[in-house]
Amino acid sequence: MNTQEKRSSKAEIEDLIKARYSLIWITSPEEARVEDSLRKLCVEREMRLEVWSITEGFKTIANGQGTRDVKDPMKALDHVMRGEGRALYVLRDFHPFLKEPAVVRRLRDAAHELRKTKKSLLVLSPVTKIPPELEKSISAIVDWELPNRSEIEGAARKVLPNLPAATQQVIESDPTFMERVVEGALGLTLVEAENVFAKSAVRTHTFDLDTILEEKKQIIRKSGLLEYYEHREEFSDVGGMEILKDWLVKRRNAFSSRARDFGLPLPKGMLLIGVPGTGKSLTAKAVGALWQMPLLRLDVGKIFGGLVGSSEENIRTVIKTAEAIAPAVLWIDELEKGFSGTASSGQTDGGTTSRVFASFITWLQEKTTPVFVIATANNVTQLPPELLRKGRFDEIFFCDLPDREDRRQIIDIHLRKKNRDPGQFDLDKLVDASVDYSGAELEQIVVAALYDAFDTGVDLTTDGLLKTLHEVVPLAITMREQIDAMREWARTRARMASARGRTPQKKEGWMARYGAPTANLGDKGTETSDDGERKLEL
Ligand SMILES: Nc1ncnc2c1ncn2[C@@H]1O[C@H](COP(=O)(O)OP(=O)(O)O)[C@@H](O)[C@H]1O
Ligand SMILES: [Mg+2]
Repeated sequence: MNTQEKRSSKAEIEDLIKARYSLIWITSPEEARVEDSLRKLCVEREMRLEVWSITEGFKTIANGQGTRDVKDPMKALDHVMRGEGRALYVLRDFHPFLKEPAVVRRLRDAAHELRKTKKSLLVLSPVTKIPPELEKSISAIVDWELPNRSEIEGAARKVLPNLPAATQQVIESDPTFMERVVEGALGLTLVEAENVFAKSAVRTHTFDLDTILEEKKQIIRKSGLLEYYEHREEFSDVGGMEILKDWLVKRRNAFSSRARDFGLPLPKGMLLIGVPGTGKSLTAKAVGALWQMPLLRLDVGKIFGGLVGSSEENIRTVIKTAEAIAPAVLWIDELEKGFSGTASSGQTDGGTTSRVFASFITWLQEKTTPVFVIATANNVTQLPPELLRKGRFDEIFFCDLPDREDRRQIIDIHLRKKNRDPGQFDLDKLVDASVDYSGAELEQIVVAALYDAFDTGVDLTTDGLLKTLHEVVPLAITMREQIDAMREWARTRARMASARGRTPQKKEGWMARYGAPTANLGDKGTETSDDGERKLEL
C-alpha cells in the first residue's frame, strides 16, 4: 500500500537548523530514539552534539567526546553560550526548571544570542509545557513521529533470535509474515513494540499476530483517547443508504499507489450527519472491514476531559498515533459533543477548544498521510460552521430515516442475524407498518418480538413483529421538529445517503396509523452504540 511520504522529524529538524532556528522544543517520550536520529543528523552535517541532563551535565555524543560537569541549569546554559563552532545542544527533561524565572530569562537570552551563531538548543521533553514568557522565544515545536515500519522491524529482529530455530526459519521464509507482524505493532513507541514482541515470544514462542494486536489495543486504550477497534461489523450488515455505500465501495482501493498514479487524490474524510439510530456509527465501523484497514475510535470528549494530558497535547497524540498506523480509518463518533463549544471557547475555556479544533481542521485539510476520517454527528446545530466548509471533508452525507426499500433491507438483515429466514415473513406488510422507524428501532423490534415469541413458546411471526411495531413509538414522532429542521439544513449542505432521499408523507406516518403515542422507546433508539539483542527467558 502506498503511504505518501510525510517529511520525517529528522528532516524537519535539519530544515529548522539550516534556517537558523535557535531554540526548538521537541516533544517525545522516546529520548533514546530521538537522540539517535539527532546523532545521525549531526554526523551527516559535521556538527557537535552535546546532551545535557540534571544528573550528568553535558556529554558530547557526536563529532567529539567528553563531558562537562554543569548539572546546574543556569551553568548549563552558560556552557551553551560559550560553546565554539557548529553544535546542537539537547536539554533532556528541562521543563521542570522552566518554573524558575531566572532560568526562563536565561533561556530567552540564549535563544536571542544563538541566532547569531551556528548553534541550536533543543529542549527534549515527553510533554509540551512551555511557560507563556517563553512561547515567543521558541521558534518551533516538533512533535517527534512514532517509529516507521523499518524501525519497528528492527525491534522485532532484536527479539527474533530468542525464538526456536524452526520458527525463525518459518518467519524468514515468508516475507509477508514479517510485514504483517510489523504492521500489527505500528502506532507504538519502539520500546512498546519491543515489549509486545517479547511478550508474544514468551507466550506463543512465535510472533503471534493476535497477541501483538491484543497488546497494541491495550496500549492504545491506555492513552485514554483512542480505541483500536476490532471489526465485528461487516459492510453487508448496513441496510439501505445505497449512495453512501456506493461512495465507500468506490474508494476501497483509493489508498493504493495505483490510485495515486491514476491521478486520484487521497481521500480525506467524510462527515455523516442525521437522525439518531440510522446507522451512522454502524457504517463507520463497517468501513474498516470494507477497506481492510485498522479502525481507531476517538473519544472527542476525552480530549477535553482534563483527565489525560492537556487538550493540545491530546489532539497531537491522536494525530501522531493515527499517522503511524496509517493507512487507517479514524472514527470520531458524535463529533458535536467535543467541538460544540468552539464558538464560545474564548469566554469559557481561554480558547482551548477553538485552538484544538483549529489544529484538527488544519490537519484534516492538509494531511498527506492515508488517514481517513469518518466523523458522525446527530446534532448539526452544535457543529462549528468552519467544519462544514469545502475542503475539510470529501463529502457530507445526510442519513435520513429509512424509506421502504431501506427498511426492507434492514428488517431482512436483522432477521437473518437472528437466524430467521426473511422469506418466511411478509416483508411488504412489515415495511408498510414501519414508516418512521429508524434502523436501530427496527433492530430492537426484532429483538423484542423474539422475546415475546420465546416467552409464549411459538416462533417469531409477521404478526408478532407487527404487534411489537404497534407498541413501540418511534423516536421520529417525538423528535419530529428536530428531524424536519435537520432535513431542511441538509437539503443544501449535504448529500443524501440513500438513493431515494424521501420526505415522508405525514399521512402514512406512525401517528396516522396508531394515534397518539402511549409508549416510547425513549433514549434507547439513539444508542450508538537499548541496544543489541534482547535475551528472553522462554
Ligand atoms: N441502516 C441500518 N442497517 C442495519 N442496521 C441498522 C441500520 N441503522 C441502524 N441499525 C442498527 O441499529 C444499531 C444502532 O445504530 P447506529 O449505527 O448506532 O446509529 P447512529 O449512529 O446513526 O445513531 C446498529 O448497530 C444496527 O444494529
Ligand atoms: Mg451513532
